[in-house]
Amino acid sequence: MRSHEAGAIHGQSGDRGPAWLHAPEDANQLVPQLWSSSVSKVDDVLTVAGESVLDIAEEFGTPTYVVDEDDFRQRARAFRDAFPNADVYYAAKAFLCTASARWVVEEGLNVDVCSGGELAVALRAEVPPARIGLHGNNKSVAELRTALEAGVGRIIIDSFEEIDRIRELATELGLTANVMVRVTAGVEAHTHEYISTSHEDQKFGFSISGGDAFEAVRRILAEPSMSLLGLHSHIGSQIFVTDGFEVAAKRVLCLHARIAAELGYTAPEFDLGGGFGIAYTTQDDPSTPEDLARDMLRIVDDECAALGIDVPQLSIEPGRAIAGPSTFTLYEVGTTKTVALDAGASRLYVSVDGGMSDNIRTALYGADYSCTLASRRSDAAAVLSRVVGKHCESGDIVVKDEFLPGDVKAGDLLAVPGTGAYCRSLASTYNHVPRAAVVAVREGEARLIVRRETEEDLFALDVG
Ligand SMILES: Cc1ncc(COP(=O)(O)O)c(C=O)c1O
Repeated sequence: MRSHEAGAIHGQSGDRGPAWLHAPEDANQLVPQLWSSSVSKVDDVLTVAGESVLDIAEEFGTPTYVVDEDDFRQRARAFRDAFPNADVYYAAKAFLCTASARWVVEEGLNVDVCSGGELAVALRAEVPPARIGLHGNNKSVAELRTALEAGVGRIIIDSFEEIDRIRELATELGLTANVMVRVTAGVEAHTHEYISTSHEDQKFGFSISGGDAFEAVRRILAEPSMSLLGLHSHIGSQIFVTDGFEVAAKRVLCLHARIAAELGYTAPEFDLGGGFGIAYTTQDDPSTPEDLARDMLRIVDDECAALGIDVPQLSIEPGRAIAGPSTFTLYEVGTTKTVALDAGASRLYVSVDGGMSDNIRTALYGADYSCTLASRRSDAAAVLSRVVGKHCESGDIVVKDEFLPGDVKAGDLLAVPGTGAYCRSLASTYNHVPRAAVVAVREGEARLIVRRETEEDLFALDVG
């Protein structure tokens, strides 16, 4: 990899910021599509569901993930309503705690978990086991046993070893395991593009083109201890258009039809996975659940008609699109530093009291985020800024490029929208920084749903 004198990540967006980022007329203004539905600025202070961030910071501290509960619920309902005849599984990996598991079930969704720990939270939240799906490319015997004993609605099988493990467990427990087979359709999708290959160099699923998927199904159908619900495919993340789903659906339904023709079994269900994109910055234009539904249902109907088969019961697994936009992270500014760049340009570095430990996506995926000064109005000119964390790591960046008022200073509060997915769930205690709190706000009430980790919590593990 070509190294850059100031470190890889610094040089990417150049001195004027990325092409999609334009200096705002008024940096105090919110970009509506980036924030949850109950967020606004009241007297120049960011407010969510009637609760000001000044009060939230005072009561719960910072950094804090602030969840707009009604927005989260509304997004869950939007998928349920857009896919009325399908089963919608909330992909818990995006963000899971007892409260969020309860919210999605109350809104009529099911829950997709991918580890023993996520399953434990879902059961603790009293999610009906029949409405839980268990994923994972390497499920342990213990995880499978817990899932079978709990009576989860379906286990999505990802390997031949797993078929053997489930056979032994289900036989020992004297029950029938409801299973799906995760297949790889040779499609990888992301934002507006997808790549379609014959094979997939990745860890998940059974290859269709390589024949493993058909073989897995053949073995499962021969197992009295298992009942095959259908095929599952998940093609990527942060997807804005349905082209990739179309190619994947064609290939998976083709296999579905072959199974019916050659093995005499018509699987009742078909899962198209998740991956629906959200807006992190002004460059993003995600599809609505209604648009996605219209296209995806048409794709499946047309392909089934072309294959002369009945349309199976569909399911989808949105995670990011439900959790992501409902939450912003509230930080306090600790230090600022103007750094000279080439050609007389400069960048304002704004250090906050969190960082990659509460949002690893910028460092891990090069993700883009936005940001606003949340605690006051500023009439200072907007300057190209970078919001960075407090970790001892040059890649510890939260917001790579944003225009913030040039007078941002220590003690100010900043808010970064779109942090509801894959932030708290990927949080760490790097540099022994305790993990941040999660606060849900609804109708002017803010309540803790995940408490802030303390040094005592860290010590509890340190048995040295
Ligand atoms: C099998 C499966 N389903 C659903 C999801 C959720 O994806 P997203 O949060 O992008 O909707 C994932 C994400 O990795 C996944 O692996």
